Amino acid sequence: MRISEFGHAEGSFGLGFGLRLPPMCGIVGYVGSQSALDVVMAGLKRLEYRGYDSAGVAVLADGGLAAAKKAGKLINLEKELVDRPLPTGTTGIGHTRWATHGGPTDANAHPHLDNAGRVAVVHNGIIENFAALRAELEERGHALASETDTEVVAHLLAEEFSSCADPAEAMRLVCRRLEGAFTLVAVHADEPDVVVGARRNSPLVVGVGEGEAFLASDVAAFIAHTRSAIELGQDQVVELRRDSVTVTGFDGRPADVRSYHIDWDASAAEKGGYDYFMLKEIAEQPKAVADTLLGRIDDSGSLTLDEVRISAAELREVDKVVIIACGTAFHAGLIAKYAIEHWTRIPCEVELASEFRYRDPILDPRTLVIAISQSGETMDTLMALRHAREQGSKVLAICNTNGSTIPRESDAVLYTHAGPEVAVASTKAFLTQLVACYLVALYLGQVRGTKWGDEIDAVIRDLSQISGEVERVLETMEPVRALARTLASKNTVLFLGRHVGYPVALEGALKLKELAYMHAEGFAAGELKHGPIALIEEDLPVVVVVPSPRGRSVLHDKIVSNIQEIRARGARTIVIAEEGDETVVPYADHLIRIPATPTLLQPLVATVPLQVFACELATARGNEVDQPRNLAKSVTVE
Ligand code: G6P
Repeated sequence: MRISEFGHAEGSFGLGFGLRLPPMCGIVGYVGSQSALDVVMAGLKRLEYRGYDSAGVAVLADGGLAAAKKAGKLINLEKELVDRPLPTGTTGIGHTRWATHGGPTDANAHPHLDNAGRVAVVHNGIIENFAALRAELEERGHALASETDTEVVAHLLAEEFSSCADPAEAMRLVCRRLEGAFTLVAVHADEPDVVVGARRNSPLVVGVGEGEAFLASDVAAFIAHTRSAIELGQDQVVELRRDSVTVTGFDGRPADVRSYHIDWDASAAEKGGYDYFMLKEIAEQPKAVADTLLGRIDDSGSLTLDEVRISAAELREVDKVVIIACGTAFHAGLIAKYAIEHWTRIPCEVELASEFRYRDPILDPRTLVIAISQSGETMDTLMALRHAREQGSKVLAICNTNGSTIPRESDAVLYTHAGPEVAVASTKAFLTQLVACYLVALYLGQVRGTKWGDEIDAVIRDLSQISGEVERVLETMEPVRALARTLASKNTVLFLGRHVGYPVALEGALKLKELAYMHAEGFAAGELKHGPIALIEEDLPVVVVVPSPRGRSVLHDKIVSNIQEIRARGARTIVIAEEGDETVVPYADHLIRIPATPTLLQPLVATVPLQVFACELATARGNEVDQPRNLAKSVTVE
């Protein structure tokens, strides 16, 4: 599970002071009786998927504060701690960071300290007025050592603490002076049993243990210790002590908070014997798909969502559905459109969240917006949903992360039950998003009466078979792996599909880009002749997703022609086709079989070989599967 933070404005990284370079990071805080360094480092390991450009820790010990930080992956910090161990203490904080540009350095890594070395702070976000604050601090004689915006917070906290001697009050006073979006966690050497945190926009979760407490941007950082969590709200400050957690607003008033139980166990976030999280997550798909379906039909045979704050009457009034999402979730949305329009006859648009609000979309209270997000924290999607709500539209979230910002700000939620997804490239979340989208489409059909109960039952029966079908696909993946290894030296792979196979082709191409760093593109097979066919050359691998011959066979016939067209021009065809579809055999250089499924549900089985293919190619090319270069799991900047 990954909640997230915000980008944060670093200074120059050699690109000119003042340039905003927003990273996405993971933060951890601990107070208790264990070694804070051990707890924080283990937490950072769990959060490394959020960023791996630099890492740092600070512990309070022997009346003072000791810190270490290092550019590069966490392993570099681990080595640094072996060479130069920190004293043992039971209160500490840590940070792992991801930058969009520029070379992260030791100096710009977090934590940042004040001049006396009594305060340490880690930060995710953008302090927009940091330049003015920095100038003000310098005028008062502070010497700032880095070019980050974060460092001003350490200095301001030190100043405020010197007059109030209360870390939480100092944090509140500082937060009231900050502009922008930020999550902060800090410690002061004068208060060795206190960690304070502040949250604006980006999430911060409290873990409550026995005689210990945790703060993290994601519960994955502390589920090995406790499953009892408190979600902090917007503009709140938390003071953690061993036996107490106190939450106030930035104004100092006591705040309402939501406690919840984390139902993931720690082992779910471990690799469980697999070399990579991605392999484990691919293998978990049958269970994830089944879990997402679980408990959706009540005793009366009706479908239920998780939190519906949209009435049936309002849903009956809906005259347009707009789906917003990014990356893999966007591809789930593209597939959802086919089901929604087919089953409900409501027009459905799908839009990249990052484009949505900038084109002045036509929205009103009769528009239902569906926001799809694994993390629930993607800033593009969040901003798009806020825009939709400002225009009076209702928003339904499809999300994997309980209590994250996107579902919290939506009018209704359907949670996918994929469990924690750690590998940066999304796999099981995608399949469960598809299941969730089908359920939403059926739910709309149910509420609006465009689908009879028995029709809904029939689809649910088909969906409940899918888990077993995905399992069968996974059992037959060895030839796909072998094929992938033979293509490791290729530069380009193209993907073609029609109907719901088209978004599957896009997803196959995205996986390959993310993981294998290869030029990969997905096309609607019918569009090929309008340009992309010029790309076809001798031995170019082209993956073709073939629709079921039993469904709309016109689609099938057309794609068989497309395969012949590209093969005639020298392409090496890799054909994904239903078991029993013999028409494709003569034209397939490589044939990958998938179980027969209803047309609309085929993406649930057709995507799996493409995930395996990309993962194996990445491995063959020596790439880091779980942490591909330049990417982050949860992108919390626009
Ligand atoms: C990032 C990840 C992608 C993911 C996208 C949307 O770019 O690298 O794998 O699909 O964000 O993430 P979300 O959490 O909103 O589904």
